[in-house]
Amino acid sequence: MGKLTSLLLFALISSTQAAPRIDCLPEPNGNQGACEARGCIWKEDDSGIGAPWCYFKDGVGYKLDSQQGSTYNLRKNSGPSNPWGADSTEIKLTTKKIGSVLNVHIGIDGRYEPPVDFPRETQPSDESLVLSTDSSSDVFSFSVVRQSSNRKLFDTSLGGLIFSDQFIQIATYLPSENMYGWGENTHQTLRHDFTKYLTWAMFARDQPPNSGNLDTMNLYGVHPYYMILEPDGKAHGVLILNSNAQEVMTAPGPSLIYRTIGGNLDMYFFPGPTPELVTQQYLKFIGKPFLPAYWALGYQLSRYGYKGLDEMKTRIQAVRDAGIPIDIVLISGVADIDYMQRYKDFTTGDDWSGFGDYVKTMHSWGMKLILIFDPAIEATYDSFKRGMAANAKFVEWETQAQVQTGIQNLYPMAKNTKIMLGVVWPDNHVAFPDFLDSTNNTQNWWISEFVNYQSQVAFDGIWIDMNEPSNFGTNQNHPWYFDSDDHPDDAPLFCPTDGSNLWEMPPYKTRAVWRWGDAGNGAFLSTNTLCLLALQDGGKQRFYNVKNLYGLTEAIHTQKALFKATGKRGAVVSRSTYPSAGRYAGHWLGDNTARWEDLRTSVIGAQEFNMFGIPYVGSDVCGFIGTTTEELCLRWQQMGAFHSFFRNHNTIGAPAQDPAVWPSVAAATKQANLFRYQYLPYLFSLHFVASQSGASVIRPVFFEFPTDAETFNLGYQFMWGPRMMVAPVIYQGHTTQNVYLPTDTWYSLFDYKYGSIISPGYATVQAPTTSRIPVFVRGTDKVSFLVRPHPLLPLPLVRIHSNFSLLHAQWEKVSELCIGMTERLLSMISTLMTTITSISFITRLPLVVFSQLIIPRRSVFEGFLKMKVDFQSSTISLPTLDIIEIFNYPKAPNFRSFTVNGKTVNINVQKSTYSGVTKTLYISTPGLIDLTSADSIVIQWSNAGSSMFEMNVANPGKMKALNTNRYEELYF
Ligand code: NOJ
Repeated sequence: MGKLTSLLLFALISSTQAAPRIDCLPEPNGNQGACEARGCIWKEDDSGIGAPWCYFKDGVGYKLDSQQGSTYNLRKNSGPSNPWGADSTEIKLTTKKIGSVLNVHIGIDGRYEPPVDFPRETQPSDESLVLSTDSSSDVFSFSVVRQSSNRKLFDTSLGGLIFSDQFIQIATYLPSENMYGWGENTHQTLRHDFTKYLTWAMFARDQPPNSGNLDTMNLYGVHPYYMILEPDGKAHGVLILNSNAQEVMTAPGPSLIYRTIGGNLDMYFFPGPTPELVTQQYLKFIGKPFLPAYWALGYQLSRYGYKGLDEMKTRIQAVRDAGIPIDIVLISGVADIDYMQRYKDFTTGDDWSGFGDYVKTMHSWGMKLILIFDPAIEATYDSFKRGMAANAKFVEWETQAQVQTGIQNLYPMAKNTKIMLGVVWPDNHVAFPDFLDSTNNTQNWWISEFVNYQSQVAFDGIWIDMNEPSNFGTNQNHPWYFDSDDHPDDAPLFCPTDGSNLWEMPPYKTRAVWRWGDAGNGAFLSTNTLCLLALQDGGKQRFYNVKNLYGLTEAIHTQKALFKATGKRGAVVSRSTYPSAGRYAGHWLGDNTARWEDLRTSVIGAQEFNMFGIPYVGSDVCGFIGTTTEELCLRWQQMGAFHSFFRNHNTIGAPAQDPAVWPSVAAATKQANLFRYQYLPYLFSLHFVASQSGASVIRPVFFEFPTDAETFNLGYQFMWGPRMMVAPVIYQGHTTQNVYLPTDTWYSLFDYKYGSIISPGYATVQAPTTSRIPVFVRGTDKVSFLVRPHPLLPLPLVRIHSNFSLLHAQWEKVSELCIGMTERLLSMISTLMTTITSISFITRLPLVVFSQLIIPRRSVFEGFLKMKVDFQSSTISLPTLDIIEIFNYPKAPNFRSFTVNGKTVNINVQKSTYSGVTKTLYISTPGLIDLTSADSIVIQWSNAGSSMFEMNVANPGKMKALNTNRYEELYF
């Protein structure tokens, strides 16, 4: 090799291995002068990877001053200082183990910590994470090391630790590029991209997702949590418990740089080692998800912009007339703000008189109703009056002098208060309940408003919206609503953005502001929301710190309100979320647009929210903003049928998009919904398990196959628990689908080769619009059968009235499963249930547990199924098990040989089949098994022609003449 070549090679290697740049000028419109004035390096970079041109010199950080046990006292070193405020001279790193979770806390005692109530339940792990520190230089660094592999999971030797009052930064190398999570953002791929520098903003904002192009802006909620799949397939998770405006930059290295503008760095490392175990550890720590009512897994029909009750009735009727069996399978009607009297919570509009009666009718059909409520309460009417009388608190100005008296004086009830008034949907100004009120007056008033209203309109579930909280027109001289018919002249809220107030105008504003420009462009942290200087809990909490918790705290008290008002579990869905919100509510992915790109990102979004502990999640099916198309709506209905929260929702003014609009969409919806309903016990079981042990419900494929690199960025396929793989059609014009099936035994559950084994690897399968979308069941050891009610069960009535069937996907496996159907409150369930296999259940509603389904590896010539049924119900009789379907059954059975607990049963041979081609055995007989007849039920049969097999093996031709179907299995 010539000298020049090797020099070039060296240059190339060193340039590709250059340490990632830590941005020193993330603000817009930076220039070399500004950069150098900060003492940073300016170096242009045209490589197209978005490297910052202004970056910190080496040496940024702290040095070790002293150590006491697991506390490291750090002192600001002589390296570059912080451009965004005075460096804190002394900070402390403390580390502790909470079960298997490693906590590393960096900061200063007494600073703000998020007032969240995590159960911090821990789950043992075989893996251990330890802290290792390096204080050999002026830059103290630490690593979190997985002991079993000695791998550094977090390695701050990159430098860049900054700590000041309103700017905190930590930078780390990562062990792998396979990083998932952080939110809420719109991710176009499941896995992050470390080939370039990207800064993802996290600050709750009323911001519709933009799926059309890569956009790292912040959406409705905040989830400072990620998971990494390490090179050996082990996984870990990291939570940074901080609720201030924050952001994360992903950078080559792979590395990440996390910045926040308040609080401390309180980091929790979850050891896994599998992705699913990481999720369970994380969810146990922050709080396991609530269990939605069974009916809440049904299909929901919603829209914004119904002109009145009559229109809602018409659309519901149209859907029923289209043959989508909403009277017998579930559909919940969802009413948006239109039902209210001029958008005021807890009121009913003039065009909605009779709503209470219609809800009774809906209930008589077995339908349910979910109603929307916004947090903002107009300062004029009874609900506000009752709140004031009850000493409820609202988000307030800091001082009387700050109050916009021109607004305040318009409202006698708010006059002379410091309540910060804003503008949302109602005609007049609104106040924002303070859900952090430690006197509980606010919460009690909030709950009583729901209880009162529920006695007029008997809703079953609650949808909480606009709770970032959203406020229209903040700091704008001409907000959009001045040009609308609603509240055209409500003076907007103005916050002191002249730079005099550091809550409003902190030195570092994060990408939540800079995505939109800067103050010159009217971009502030308070844009679309309240002033950051506001106070909550009688002055104990600053909105600057707790804003991101608004949705969470509203959800906590709204769930209580639902329980109190209905006495049932129901479901709450919330737009704004924060870690632990899944304990109280589900989430929809916000105001998407009717575009194929949005269908695709919603497939990823639902997987992410499962990682965040909010498995009751889905998107606005068919698209919210804009006009959908027949094909897009059809495909979205088909995909949405596999999301736990399954709601067709549409914006005001857009043409109707319920499935009844197009016969093709109606047919596809019916087909998709029937599939969903048939497998709902499995979906419900997954939610049940999640609520008990913190599992995911929908999960990325890599969760189940963490060593198969093909799955690492397979964002457009997902799994229902460990068993079902869904590969939705998400591209326009596609009638086939490329799917990837990791190495395992997979059976088709859709039209294409139903019941057959599909070879693992890449495959192109048929997926015309008239077929179900590709879905496969995995013959795994873990759970290898599915209980299926008849799809036309009256789900809303939450009972097993109809007979049901059992699908067994892998012969010769032992399995366990529960189907549970109860609306009773979660607290009651958890006291009754210890483990999934030993449930006894006493309720007016049944829960059936097959705690053992034993299929011993016996002769292939004999069938043997044993079920242990654990069922108690005082009022409900259990229907019979009528259908047993077994995939991969090797031999044709002798349908005349069946016995149940030793007694012969007559199998309906007209309805029962066996295919030697697909190897599916379908046994169907009304009243086949009475599950209440004994605790233990054994079904036995022999296979057809076992002796013939012996006889004819020498003469297959003769056998073929006897039965073509069975011919090939003779060679089994
Ligand atoms: C915003 C929500 O995201 C949307 O779903 C709803 O329709 C409107 N608010 C009106 O309430």
